[in-house]
Amino acid sequence: MQIDLTGRTALITGASKGLGLAMARRMAASGARVVMLARGRGDLESAAAEIAAAHPIACDITDAAARDAAVAEALDRFGTIDILVNNAGSSQRGPVEDATRDRMIEDMDLKLHAPLALTRAVLPGMKAQHWGRVLNVTAIVGKTPDGGSLPTSVSRGAGITLTKALSKELAPWNVLVNALCVGKIKSGQWERRFAASGQDDYEAFLKPTADKVPLKRLGEAEEFANVACFLASDAASYVTGTAINVDGGLCAVT
Ligand SMILES: NC(=O)c1ccc[n+]([C@@H]2O[C@H](COP(=O)([O-])OP(=O)(O)OC[C@H]3O[C@@H](n4cnc5c(N)ncnc54)[C@H](OP(=O)(O)O)[C@@H]3O)[C@@H](O)[C@H]2O)c1
Repeated sequence: MQIDLTGRTALITGASKGLGLAMARRMAASGARVVMLARGRGDLESAAAEIAAAHPIACDITDAAARDAAVAEALDRFGTIDILVNNAGSSQRGPVEDATRDRMIEDMDLKLHAPLALTRAVLPGMKAQHWGRVLNVTAIVGKTPDGGSLPTSVSRGAGITLTKALSKELAPWNVLVNALCVGKIKSGQWERRFAASGQDDYEAFLKPTADKVPLKRLGEAEEFANVACFLASDAASYVTGTAINVDGGLCAVT
């Protein structure tokens, strides 16, 4: 199937590395302009340099003023954001004793409040043109939480609930809202864990994790980006309110 995003503008958070960068590449290859957000300017600009249709904006999405300025810059330049991809995040897990109010709020700021604020900011244009896509990147731990998974499991569960609630509310404007639940996919996160492990063979480092996945491997960022690109397109015109696992079969629930 040919996915065509010609004429669309996508704003992707966390687009300098991993899944966000793969989605920026994939959507640009399908014809979209891509507004790429991340905090680290150096990584962001080198990532954007390889994508002709990219517009990088260095921004911490938990900083309301910086976030508003980034959206204003994107809207000023491109008119409407047609596709919003709330992808920026990090894995925050630990024992309940560490789940302080501050830590919970910090995680919810990044994974719930910032995506909601960005959605509210781009919504007027989507509603006016009767077309929009919001993709919330969450994790399977939001459906099947492990012990020791606070605060991530709570913020990811909230992201899935946010997705369903918004999908119902925004359907009359043809704004489709879906979540992508990540299992284990190769990215900057895994490279940082490998670097911290002191091991020297990346595939050997990943093997114990891969062995737990029914497909017996971690996913590639490009495999994830293919699903996201489909959901962002006209080809997914009857799909909204879903939370799709992209996990090689790992999650115990659908
Ligand atoms: N890969 C997996 O196996 C996996 C599993 C479960 C969930 N996920 C989720 O999938 C999403 C993508 O993860 P990834 O694996 O691709 O991670 P990654 O390689 O570490 O990339 C994370 C991206 O988010 C950006 N970012 C982080 N905090 C930000 C902030 N406050 N404001 C703006 N940008 C921010 C990072 O750039 P800067 O640091 O420069 O800002 C980077 O571009 C995340 O939400 C992650 O939690 C991934």
